Amino acid sequence: MLLKNSFNEDIMKLAFISDIHGNQDALKSVLEHISANNVDKVVCLGDVVGYGPEAKECINLLIENGITSVIGNHEEYIMGKAIKSDFNDFARTSLELCLKQLADVHLQKINQFKPYLLSKKYQFKIIHSAGIRVENFYVLFKQIKDRLFELPNQSMCFVGHTHKCAIFELDDTKKIVKKIEHASEFFLDLDNKRYIINAGSVGQPRDQDTRSSYIIYNSDSKSVSVHRVKYDIECVRKKMTKLCLPSYLINRLNYGN
Ligand SMILES: [Fe+2]
Repeated sequence: MLLKNSFNEDIMKLAFISDIHGNQDALKSVLEHISANNVDKVVCLGDVVGYGPEAKECINLLIENGITSVIGNHEEYIMGKAIKSDFNDFARTSLELCLKQLADVHLQKINQFKPYLLSKKYQFKIIHSAGIRVENFYVLFKQIKDRLFELPNQSMCFVGHTHKCAIFELDDTKKIVKKIEHASEFFLDLDNKRYIINAGSVGQPRDQDTRSSYIIYNSDSKSVSVHRVKYDIECVRKKMTKLCLPSYLINRLNYGN
């Protein structure tokens, strides 16, 4: 099971992108920024599609750049694996449009997305959603262990889904004790602590910062750096307006929420 979901582990700098949501302009800006950072590999934490205007173009960029992804709840919708009523009207409207846009090549790529990935060498897991509100500090480790920490000495789990970039630190009693936001670089105490690391969102940030977010994990320095990247929001708004996407989805890009 571990081998099935593992990937090439000979890495030093690994970039995590998440929740692109059909925002090609944001993705292009982020990939440009990543390429200037000498990263060994880029991994996507899911939700490449939905909300935004250019899902197929985003999937093309993943294919062209050899980017692996885990499956997000919006891909589950596309593949008929989700309960449609779990999605709000705005999400459903955009996903139905997305279904009309995607060709076989895009569906085949989505079909390759794994539910999660594991790195035995670096002892981390990659999964789209934490499955619980980790922001709530009273959440006990036993509630998140099975989903997020399944390797024997696993110290990190990388997630997305909330569209809010943050690092959650778990102490030796295995309880979440600290939430680190707005850190440009954070050194991890991997011998004594565990971490849930949320990469935020490329295409629809919701932490009151309109810029795309992504993170880089450096296995050499054992640190995580957080990056925020500007993109042309107005250009994306125009594309969304042309497709008659809901104004709620168009406007929220301007507020970062
Ligand atoms: Fe999302």
